[in-house]
Amino acid sequence: MCGIVGYLGARDPKEVILKGLKTLEYRGYDSSGVSILNKGKFKRVRAQGKLSQLCEKLQNEDFDGHLGIGHTRWATHGKPSERNAHPHQLNHVNIVHNGIIENYAEIKEKLIKNGSQFESETDSELVAHLIEREMNFNASLLNATINIIPGLRGAYSVLAVSEKTPDQCVAFKNGPPLLIGLGEDEIIVASDIQAIISYTKKIIYLEDDEIALISPGKVEIYNFKGQRIEKSPVTVNWDASQIEKQGYPHYMLKEIFEQPRAVAQAIDPHIDLSTRKINLSGVGFNVDNFEGPEALDLKNDLLNTNEILQTIERVFIVACGTSYYAGMLGEYLIERAAEVPVEIDLASEFRYRYPVIPKNSLLIVVSQSGETADTLAALRQAKKQGALTLSICNVPRSSIDREAHGHLYMNAGVEIGVASTKAFVSSLALMNILSLSLAKAKGLLNEDLEKKCVDEIVAAPSLMEGVLAYDKFFAQAADDLKKKRGFLYLGRGVSYPIALEGALKLKELAYMHAEGYASGEMKHGPLALIDETMAIIVLCPKDELYEKTISNLEEAKARGGMIISIGTGDDERLKSISDHYLSLPETAWYVNPLLEVIPLQLLAYYVAKSLGNDVDQPRNLAKSVTVE
Ligand code: F6R
Repeated sequence: MCGIVGYLGARDPKEVILKGLKTLEYRGYDSSGVSILNKGKFKRVRAQGKLSQLCEKLQNEDFDGHLGIGHTRWATHGKPSERNAHPHQLNHVNIVHNGIIENYAEIKEKLIKNGSQFESETDSELVAHLIEREMNFNASLLNATINIIPGLRGAYSVLAVSEKTPDQCVAFKNGPPLLIGLGEDEIIVASDIQAIISYTKKIIYLEDDEIALISPGKVEIYNFKGQRIEKSPVTVNWDASQIEKQGYPHYMLKEIFEQPRAVAQAIDPHIDLSTRKINLSGVGFNVDNFEGPEALDLKNDLLNTNEILQTIERVFIVACGTSYYAGMLGEYLIERAAEVPVEIDLASEFRYRYPVIPKNSLLIVVSQSGETADTLAALRQAKKQGALTLSICNVPRSSIDREAHGHLYMNAGVEIGVASTKAFVSSLALMNILSLSLAKAKGLLNEDLEKKCVDEIVAAPSLMEGVLAYDKFFAQAADDLKKKRGFLYLGRGVSYPIALEGALKLKELAYMHAEGYASGEMKHGPLALIDETMAIIVLCPKDELYEKTISNLEEAKARGGMIISIGTGDDERLKSISDHYLSLPETAWYVNPLLEVIPLQLLAYYVAKSLGNDVDQPRNLAKSVTVE
């Protein structure tokens, strides 16, 4: 949602904070601000709009202090405006906040009754009021924080500073992430590793219910009761160059082109090239503190992943947005390969629909960020109900990754474009690995078939490289496509989730009407939409549903829509009913979705670019949705 950066150290805090906020702008971008010490007082500068507005305002501002906090906002409570931008300030106290204080209305009412005056419409400002009040009663910054936390409800991460303690910063969290980087003569706190990695790789991941007291060269961690906790930093292996555009005009295009590598990295730990075998090594199901002993027949000695998979009788897959579509592919693959029934759910629905989770269930959550609030809540709900859980995340040690029993990693590298691309294909590849591993555990994958599947999956990255050449086609076609009134994306079977994903990409980037449909559903309503102002993007691989998709397409063609078809090899028949035919190389049906999605991403990218939209940071969206 929002991005937070705090700095205490020898460099110019303005430089470090702005550079950090730039890397976090994907988290929210309707306003931003900083508070930095200058002559013993916090000077606050805020701006509505993109971070560049703040940078402009700060151009001629100098600060002589070495402590500062900054924030980039994605509005939840209170419209985007300078008044609602963070930091919030009350006298000597300044705070930045990410998340939601659920009981803000009742706290605010009490404070107003006691004479407080609020400057903003946000839920965040009251944190500054509460800390200031405690400090007026002589509490230290740390004790003030410990005292106010029991009164806060919701998901939040906060940085607080006070002029009374000009060499201290307090960070605390219950929900959205906060990381603390320990450099030589400096400490950087941020919502995401991107803001820290160019200074240090030594990181402390703050957990929920933890407070960090940051002072020169030192970080002390306490729990919410004020008891000291010993915690050592970990060394991360991400590289600062991963978060640069490297010559591409946008992160999104760079990330589309990185997809072959992302898939190779996702499958690498799970494929033995010499034996051509699949494994789920590294999943590391930790069932020591498994909360559903009644629900799953796990004995103490049954810790081998393969044996655990044998016990699984039902699979639930839960995610949001693009990750949900990756999960949908998982449903098709797992049911077909492993013959285990699968239920797929949107996390925001799952958590409130009182799901019945039978004995021996595995719940898989898919999340690029590992921080999506609904997905995290669904994971917790399923754990409570006794499911064994497995996360598929891109960000190691994210909340979802930490809380699941077992872990798979997308290994896509940092994804900065708000619209997810490379994390999606990595997830699709992992769905292949997972379905085959389950099939193997169930005795449904013989050695020859396993080898054949491995060969097909391993070949995917180089086939994907070839498909990227459609870049040029869409760069040219975009000017015509952007004039269309709407887009229908059609697919069947494993191409159906890809059609949905294609439509989502166009909606979020081009702000145009786009819908994904299972082609067989056309005659049940959506056919009425089609006329010559519509573009129909059809996924029609040469698979067992080919004939059926062709007849669905004929129906659309007869109503005058412009047809772009994406098929297999030299398909004259498909070509003859299409305005544009894009050929994909032949591959297995389960690998084909990895290829099909690339032209759809390129289409969305180039149409959005041609419309002059902000491709990397589409309006109203945030990369990491840490609130409901
Ligand atoms: C769309 C997109 C979103 C995310 C969704 C879930 O391009 O990026 O739909 O997929 O918000 O996010 P994660 O995967 O981080 O849980």
